[in-house]
Amino acid sequence: MTSYSLGPLLHEGKAKRVFQTDQSDLVAVEFKDDATAFNALKKAQLAGKGALNCRISALLFELLERQGVPTHYLGIDGSNWMLVRPVQIVPVEVVIRNVAAGSLCKQLPIAAGAAMEPPLLDLYYKDDSLGDPFLSEARLERLGLLTPEQRQRLEELARQVNGVLRPFFASLEMELVDFKIELGFSASGELLLADEISPDTCRLWNTQVADASERILDKDRFRQDLGGVVEAYGEVCKRVQGACPEPRTYR
Ligand code: TMP
Ligand code: ASP
Repeated sequence: MTSYSLGPLLHEGKAKRVFQTDQSDLVAVEFKDDATAFNALKKAQLAGKGALNCRISALLFELLERQGVPTHYLGIDGSNWMLVRPVQIVPVEVVIRNVAAGSLCKQLPIAAGAAMEPPLLDLYYKDDSLGDPFLSEARLERLGLLTPEQRQRLEELARQVNGVLRPFFASLEMELVDFKIELGFSASGELLLADEISPDTCRLWNTQVADASERILDKDRFRQDLGGVVEAYGEVCKRVQGACPEPRTYR
């Protein structure tokens, strides 16, 4: 028996639904099987994806929490539900790139696979109708979304997340090529890691495999029609849970 009940739907995104609960300081997130890419131009239902992303995100949030990264995560409930603290999401997608891939190589003369040292931090304005445009420092300042101190904190948290996840995945023979995170302000004004961290939002390469397509363990399998998407996410989940304690259930 859980100690909360679901309230109204607050928000439906491409991969998750967010519900109010009967407790003002508790929000429930349902991970869906819907897969989208290229700003939802490409869509599919992938049975089992929601549960895998919920579990992987829970394990990674708990790992990050143990390393001192403040997150919205409170616990899981069943296979597809995560309980989180309510946050005001900052409409900025923070991307860290350890290895060049994806849009970086489409937009700039940088070879796919090139090491980014130090890792590149890119910010995008989170707005699907605008296609999540790239944010320069001046554009971010013009939007007035963050004070300089908040922006510094956001970048510090993103680099801290990379500092934990990159060696963690490396120890599981996966290269964390790049990832996107979202952050939000709690009721008390603390900046927390929010949203999810999963193969939908990361690029992960299996370092045991040399072939450039075969090694992909993330949403690029869906974007590039490589097949085996859920199987790849399952492999990520298996490796991550083999190295982590069972995620806590929210009661
Ligand atoms: P990109 O190469 O398309 O800029 O993506 C960089 C990383 O961010 C990659 O791991 C995928 C992730 N990402 C999202 O999670 N959501 C998005 O909407 C986009 C564009 C990228
Ligand atoms: N997340 C975006 C979408 O669902 C873009 C992507 O991941 O390719 O369309």
